[in-house]
Amino acid sequence: MAKYKIVALPGDGIGKTVLAEAIRVLDAVGFEAEYIYGDIGWEFWKKEGNPLPERTIKLLEEHKIALFGAITSKPKQEAAKELAPELQGKGLVYSSPIVGLRQYFKLEISLRPCRTYEGNPLNFIRRSKDGGFEEPAVNVAIFRQNTEGLYSGVEWSNPPEQVYNAFMTHPKFAKNYGNLPKEDIAISSRIFTRGATERILRAAFEYARKYDYKSVTVAEKPNVIRETSGMMYQMAKDMQQKDYPEITLRNVNIDAMTMWLTKNPEDYGVIVSGNMFGDIVSDGFAGLIGGLGFAASAQYNPQTRVAVFEPTHGSAPKYAEYQTPIVNPIAMIEAARMMLEYIGEQEKADRIRKAIAKVVKDGKVKTYDMLKLKGSPDVIKQGAASTIEMTDAIIANL
Ligand code: NAI
Ligand code: MG
Repeated sequence: MAKYKIVALPGDGIGKTVLAEAIRVLDAVGFEAEYIYGDIGWEFWKKEGNPLPERTIKLLEEHKIALFGAITSKPKQEAAKELAPELQGKGLVYSSPIVGLRQYFKLEISLRPCRTYEGNPLNFIRRSKDGGFEEPAVNVAIFRQNTEGLYSGVEWSNPPEQVYNAFMTHPKFAKNYGNLPKEDIAISSRIFTRGATERILRAAFEYARKYDYKSVTVAEKPNVIRETSGMMYQMAKDMQQKDYPEITLRNVNIDAMTMWLTKNPEDYGVIVSGNMFGDIVSDGFAGLIGGLGFAASAQYNPQTRVAVFEPTHGSAPKYAEYQTPIVNPIAMIEAARMMLEYIGEQEKADRIRKAIAKVVKDGKVKTYDMLKLKGSPDVIKQGAASTIEMTDAIIANL
């Protein structure tokens, strides 16, 4: 019997393509798993009116660990039009199954490591003193609080009376907005709780210790957003002093962070932020290491240990129809590698990292994005490796 049971959620478009490739790599590295396929995505919205069927939730409740490809999602009205005729007019409203998973399983920790593969033509470079260029080796791990903060959805346009009155008790609100009609006010709240903040910070420090990062940087704005960012930074200070004296704690404002990340990205190790700032800073760093063909993330709940591993990219539907797939499978393979790390299969995870590193450094096999070509079926003729060839090359180097 296989040692592990992994829920495989291919989803839509190229999600299906790249997940199959990642599983090929996992098999080749000797990971003994049974994959249990779960339904998620557009097809199930159209057929069943639910892109995240109950049976899929059950699977994840039972087996805890999922590899997820990507899904297609569309704005509400467009989504409603594509429903099967018998489901039309029933008031079904589309909502993203990724957000659904995140909420249902309280996947409150999002981890996105961004590490340079040497020789990747998409690596960030900067001008050096002598007029040449330097290619800094980025090695960061971004921890983003994934369920609260500005994305908690607690918001109002034309706030109801009780909410408005509560806000009016705040002197700054009364002074600056108190003379405006309620209809002209929109409010989105930024809620941080001590529990969730403690857990994201703990995850960040533990990761730094385990993987030998020298610093944890809080990328927030505690001097201005005093109650939420301020609380996070204060809690980080207390935690560092008490439990992680060997790790340096840094405080970099989120706006400055977006500037520093192209000036001296190699100076950062672990970075931790609330939901929105973490979203921003993780995309910023992903751009330095190759973007959508390379970036992957984990979302997990540290208490239930339910975890979902996925590439950052979407379903790129137009590429899913090509006879020979051209998309870069590395992001999805990275997601699989992160899963191995998470479940303690470090040696296999390292072999995958080394194999990708070798292929990228050799530079013989490059998908179209690495050649900076515009995606089209033609790219193969222009020298791009197909998705399959890239995976084969990685497998050959395991
Ligand atoms: P996308 O990430 O699917 O594609 C954007 C562009 O990035 C593609 O046209 C392609 O040029 C490039 N790209 C993406 N993945 C690549 C890969 N593995 N290798 C090489 N190039 C790659 O984003 P888009 O076009 O905005 O959205 C398409 C669909 O995906 C939408 O329905 C959207 O809602 C959904 N989406 C789903 C996500 C998820 O499942 N996590 C995330 C982002 C978008
Ligand atoms: Mg984002």
